[in-house]
Amino acid sequence: MSSDKIAVYPGSFDPITMGHVDIVERGLRVFDRIVIAVAVNTTKTGLFTLEERKALIEKTFENYPNVEVALFEGLLVDFLRIRNIKSILRGLRAISDFDYEFQIAGMNNTLCPDVDTVFLMTSQKYYYISSSVIKEVARFGGNIAELVPAPVYEALSTRFAKVK
Ligand code: COA
Repeated sequence: MSSDKIAVYPGSFDPITMGHVDIVERGLRVFDRIVIAVAVNTTKTGLFTLEERKALIEKTFENYPNVEVALFEGLLVDFLRIRNIKSILRGLRAISDFDYEFQIAGMNNTLCPDVDTVFLMTSQKYYYISSSVIKEVARFGGNIAELVPAPVYEALSTRFAKVK
């Protein structure tokens, strides 16, 4: 049996931002491997399809052999059970994230008591960004080059150039 410490980092990642990359990089100091899990069934309407989001994350982490990208449907804890993974990685940006995170970590632990959520602080450089804010700024031509990985920057530029 592998003794690797593995965590699942879940989210909708529409698209992945440098804030998410920051959490994965910090997470790799704690875990041997991270599975970035893109949720199929969130209530959010996406700009990018699930396959596009997955491909953008794969491209972002193409030089990280210990990062895997997967799609998951249904409950997150079921995905962890199938993969026999016991840790969820989540990032905290501000105090305002805490209530929601506390709630979902509690629910996940109730659904699956041997699963723990590990929280890491997002770098101050990125604490104010979210995927929606990035999309809005990109849509109106603002400069987001420093806030997203290069493949996402290209994809957003192409997407919104078409809109214009
Ligand atoms: N840096 C930058 N942005 C960040 C960030 C970070 N470190 N962490 C989160 N964000 C942003 C995200 O981009 C997202 O932006 P958006 O709302 O504009 O799209 C926002 O903060 C919220 O992120 P998050 O809390 O991760 O929500 P999510 O929609 O990305 O993911 C799931 C939520 C998928 C993890 C959660 O709904 C889930 O586990 N669903 C599966 C069903 C389930 O098991 N439910 C039971 C649990 S209660």
